[in-house]
Amino acid sequence: MAQLHGSLEDQGLSSMTFLNEVAGRYPDAVSFAAGRPFEDDFDPEDIHRYLRAYCRYLAQERGFGSAEVRRTLYQYGRTKGIINELVARNLDIDEDIHVHPEAIVVTVGCQEAMVLALRALKSEGNDVLLAIAPTYVGLTGAARLVDMRVLTVPGGPRGADLEGLAERVREARRAGLRPRACYVMPDFANPSGVSMDLAVRHALLDFADDNDLLLLEDNPYGLFHGENDRLPTLKSLDARRRVIYLGSYAKTALPGARIGYIIADQTVQDAQGHSGLLADQLAKIKSMLTVNTSPIAQAVVAGKLLENGCSLASANDAARQRYARQMRQLLTGLSARFGGASGLPGVEWNEPSGGFFVVLSLPFPADDELLEYSAREYRLLWTPMHHFYGGTGGHYQLRLCVSLVSGPQIETGLDRLHALVHDRMRRATAAAMKDAYNRLEFAPLKYSLTRQ
Ligand SMILES: Cc1ncc(COP(=O)(O)O)c(C=O)c1O
Repeated sequence: MAQLHGSLEDQGLSSMTFLNEVAGRYPDAVSFAAGRPFEDDFDPEDIHRYLRAYCRYLAQERGFGSAEVRRTLYQYGRTKGIINELVARNLDIDEDIHVHPEAIVVTVGCQEAMVLALRALKSEGNDVLLAIAPTYVGLTGAARLVDMRVLTVPGGPRGADLEGLAERVREARRAGLRPRACYVMPDFANPSGVSMDLAVRHALLDFADDNDLLLLEDNPYGLFHGENDRLPTLKSLDARRRVIYLGSYAKTALPGARIGYIIADQTVQDAQGHSGLLADQLAKIKSMLTVNTSPIAQAVVAGKLLENGCSLASANDAARQRYARQMRQLLTGLSARFGGASGLPGVEWNEPSGGFFVVLSLPFPADDELLEYSAREYRLLWTPMHHFYGGTGGHYQLRLCVSLVSGPQIETGLDRLHALVHDRMRRATAAAMKDAYNRLEFAPLKYSLTRQ
């Protein structure tokens, strides 16, 4: 291992493997763990229809002959992507983001978009990335792969602590580091579930401009905004081109297609004064990473876009309502079991208005060992929060995900969670009493206690 890249011994890179491995051993468990979309409505026939819809579009709207249609699907494709104009239309309709298709690179999931952005931004040894903590493990893993240090800033209840961020930037600069960008998830963050209000969004954009920073905005959950209206994305407010937007169709179309994208409409200039789009530089990196994103997978997502007039907001309206219902049921169920006068001290949770995730705080460690125990003894899966803090926090918290569980499963899962928490608290009390007993020095009292 000492001869391989340091990231391979990094705990962060093993997190996903560990969590998937535990889930794999208990396939019958109720899972509040995986952040996957609800799958009962998936129908393989849709994929065929989407492909046909895209081929029809190529022929009828783009004027492609049959040889060109065939080539488009079967051959290597353009590095930047083949469905950029549809992605741009989708962003225009659903997000109020107006960008030229050439400012977009279609990627192999949002995960590749992160790698492209970080690879491009990490140019000097002292370049660092700021990130709101807790942080999505895919981002910290991607940073590790390109040897970019991540400095975390607590997000707090409003999703970003601007004071804390400013202090972190000052500290970093004093230490000779060069913060390049800050990774943020303004809508229903993974794992915290927290969203930023409009004032925080504007303040963040001003902060980025004042401090010559870019913002990496990641937004896979924005369309699942519960019953409330949506807030504008940072990118839609980005008059100063401070935002690189990371997009994913995993939750709004299908994760199996592995289609994401990156908007990089910033202008870059070389030493000779030639200027172009940052997206073109990212495409150069992509050409050496995945060459191009599968045209077949792009065609499937394009077909879904075309079938829905390029609006995934309307296509996902039923899903939005489902997730909102599941979130409500989970929050009501937590209150019924852990809240009110009969509530357990130290058991608390947040109440996101949308998205997939809720964070539960406990009065005892919610570590990997407890997850194993929960899976084995209670057939219940969840995610220990320490994985999102790189082991530096979140030890008493766990993440509950509502996306994959039906109504009855939520009730069963919560009953099991309740039993698990009581089980642990009983053990903790017994251990504390034993400890106190062992520390008693007055022998006659010890004797009389034993007799009782
Ligand atoms: C915050 C966040 N960003 C990105 C992704 C990954 O997206 P993709 O599947 O498109 O790579 C996820 C997936 O769970 C996520 O939660």
